[in-house]
Amino acid sequence: MDIVILKDSDQVAAYGAALFRRLLHDKPDAVLGLATGGTPIALYRRLIADYSDAMLSFREATTFNLDEYLGIDPRDPQSYRSYMRRELFDPVDIDIANTFLPECAAGENPLDVGPRYEQLIRSKGGIDLQILGIGQNGHIGFNEPTSSLVSRTRIKTLTRETLAANRRYFDAPALQPQLAITMGIASIMDARDIVLLATGSRKADAVRQSIEGPVSSMWPASALQMHERVTVLLDDAAASQLAQRDYYDWVQQQKQELLNERGGA
Ligand code: GLP
Repeated sequence: MDIVILKDSDQVAAYGAALFRRLLHDKPDAVLGLATGGTPIALYRRLIADYSDAMLSFREATTFNLDEYLGIDPRDPQSYRSYMRRELFDPVDIDIANTFLPECAAGENPLDVGPRYEQLIRSKGGIDLQILGIGQNGHIGFNEPTSSLVSRTRIKTLTRETLAANRRYFDAPALQPQLAITMGIASIMDARDIVLLATGSRKADAVRQSIEGPVSSMWPASALQMHERVTVLLDDAAASQLAQRDYYDWVQQQKQELLNERGGA
């Protein structure tokens, strides 16, 4: 894991946006794995600004989102489809036909959505860069604690904790879906590169458990320890409980020095 600890959430967003810029520059038709929640919004704003400054284009890109509520109308402002249109898709030049979420079409059997989504991801060549947030309970996507570490896209029942954390987005509790369709942990692990973003002290425990704790389905993000190319972008607050923090800073310093030497050679 490449653990990068930055001063604040702005720097986390800037660092994450630079990774997207580089990828889309090298591979304009990249397949991007996208996440929702409050954390990636600052990153999406940077991408929109970069697009406005003609520094990147999504014209040829394809996107797959991690999850979507089950039974929500895609036009509902709280659907993840609406979130993505608002926070990224509509302001940039992406072709909406190339944007996918694990949505259950009218009349479709919800149990068929997962296998269909997995097949679709495969048919597009797999995800090049997957961005992730993390729940306070360590969930990634909606893979709640005890999710199988080899799970695939499927229906999940949300925990009370997750429902409480996301209640603020809904006008009334009765309007909040209790079920979601989420990419599984194995689906996420198939991505060639993964970037996990965490900001704020509310995430500090989940970050510590997932990075420094044992690999366990009780902290689903800990599965990322088994992936070869993960970058974890943290602000100071989210990193505040890490026991090896000095080491992570030291590693980044060494890396920078190596890069500078190579750049100067
Ligand atoms: C939601 C999403 C996750 C997200 C998490 C954290 O439940 N399904 O993909 O990472 O919550 O959200 P936030 O960034 O708002 O803290």
